[in-house]
Amino acid sequence: MKTEAPFDRSNPPGFDVPKDHAYDGIQEFDNPLPRWWLGTFAITVVFAIFYWMWLHSLPNGPLSFPTYGEEQAAYDLKMLANAVDPATVVAASKDPATVTRGKALYTERCASCHAPEGQGQVGPNLTDKFWIHGGDVKSIYMTVAGGYPKLGMPEWRTVLEDNQLVDVVAFVLSIRNTEKAGKAPQGESYSGE
Ligand code: HEC
Repeated sequence: MKTEAPFDRSNPPGFDVPKDHAYDGIQEFDNPLPRWWLGTFAITVVFAIFYWMWLHSLPNGPLSFPTYGEEQAAYDLKMLANAVDPATVVAASKDPATVTRGKALYTERCASCHAPEGQGQVGPNLTDKFWIHGGDVKSIYMTVAGGYPKLGMPEWRTVLEDNQLVDVVAFVLSIRNTEKAGKAPQGESYSGE
């Protein structure tokens, strides 16, 4: 006759019921999964749904390919800038032939936004002491080479040759701190080099 055992909390019914087989002396039990395990599993399922929506149906998820592309581009830019010796560019900015070449490039490519004398228009004033993205040689070089396309400053490394980048940055250095009246200062004051 089947008798109803009193409920034992430490050993609820369904626990420790051996299956009718054993292999190599190992006995299998058919216990329910622990509650904490099932709970965690349910949370991962719910998380996965929202994570999927965040990545694929809302526009703000960082997908791996674009993120990789951006990181690669940032790394390439850093390598490009590291290959340039700031002292050489500073010296170039005092070399009249380089500055003339840089000015020609500037007039052709940059004056439409930064005004003919660099006093600023759409783009910031390049003749004051204030810089949004840094006023040291490397920062200016990175700004010009890599641009800030989302902020309206084009990327020039895909348009200009490496030596042309140096020429135009040398020109920017030659007009830095010449204080032409123009667009109001933007960014932080820089007075180095
Ligand atoms: C289509 C317009 C446009 C053109 C063309 C352009 N710029 Fe810019 N530039 C901008 C804008 C807009 C910004 C400011 C971005 C921001 O808000 O951070 C900027 C920022 C800069 C800065 C950083 C200034 C700072 O305060 O940190 C430098 C340096 C610069 N440009 C140099 C150049 C040079 C050199 C060229 C030509 C090779 C050029 N720009 C061509 C629009 C332009």
